[in-house]
Amino acid sequence: MNKHIKTAGSTLAIAAGLFAALGAQGCRGDRSDKPPRQFFPDMDDQPRWKPQGETPFYANKRMMRETPANVVAFGRVGITGDQTWGKPWAEQRVGLLRDGEAVYLGTAGVNPDGTPKYVDRIPSSIEVTPDLIKLGQIKFNIYCSVCHGFDGSGKGMVGQSWSYALPNFFDPKYKDATQYTGKDGYIFHTIRNGVTTNGEQKMPPYAHALNEKQAWAVVAYFRTLQESRSVPLSEVPESERAALEKALRAAAAATPAAPATPAPAPAAPALPANHPTNQPQGGGK
Ligand code: HEC
Repeated sequence: MNKHIKTAGSTLAIAAGLFAALGAQGCRGDRSDKPPRQFFPDMDDQPRWKPQGETPFYANKRMMRETPANVVAFGRVGITGDQTWGKPWAEQRVGLLRDGEAVYLGTAGVNPDGTPKYVDRIPSSIEVTPDLIKLGQIKFNIYCSVCHGFDGSGKGMVGQSWSYALPNFFDPKYKDATQYTGKDGYIFHTIRNGVTTNGEQKMPPYAHALNEKQAWAVVAYFRTLQESRSVPLSEVPESERAALEKALRAAAAATPAAPATPAPAPAAPALPANHPTNQPQGGGK
């Protein structure tokens, strides 16, 4: 047998072998109980960890790691409140991030009669600082003054033409913490949810505009406004007094013929004494 024939023979054998191998592979879609052949396994087979599995890697042998403290499960799928079916989950998820009913709702459970138990005072985790009160003033002037007036008397531009007299924030019931209307939590609740009487929305809610911290800031300013009425001029720091007295004189002069006894000019809030919003309503414009 010469060399050529020998080579041809082995080539034939290899070809036959390959053909057999391909044949044994079967065609795509054919069923087989045998594990598939892997000509290029790449990274098909890797060690992996399964839920509930065991590993010597960790001391406690758990493959599943425990959630670190204070971590909130947040899911992988973005659920938005726009999807009707997803709404409860979206709300629940937001709720998961909120620890502290007092801070987020202004309540501490419910009363025996089922009504919300509003917290008396701004929760201690909200630090009441001059900056917070300032923030409250800015927000109050933007969102509340149109109806309630810059001074909280209920005589804002819109408030004046309301079909009934708006509440006056100096009414003792908004200060008396033995009544729900006097509790900080209730003022907070009103800001976030508005007022609904017998199913009718009387005051619109401002939760879309004021987050919890901003709402508490408005509560702080609300209290500052109330306080400002009971501070005698003698308690105002010397440095501020002259400017205040001047503003009061100007305001009294601008107020047209009031009752015989000159009404005690509304003391400007203790905050920035020369702030334009502290001028009594109706002066100008
Ligand atoms: C569009 C007008 C309007 C705006 C703006 C408005 N309110 Fe009111 N508010 C009302 C009306 C009307 C009532 C009275 C509701 C009722 O009891 O009928 C009211 C009542 C209240 C009360 C008393 C609730 C009670 O139960 O006695 C508080 C406190 C209050 N508002 C705070 C605020 C604060 C703070 C803001 C700003 C975030 C604000 N309001 C913005 C219209 C408004």
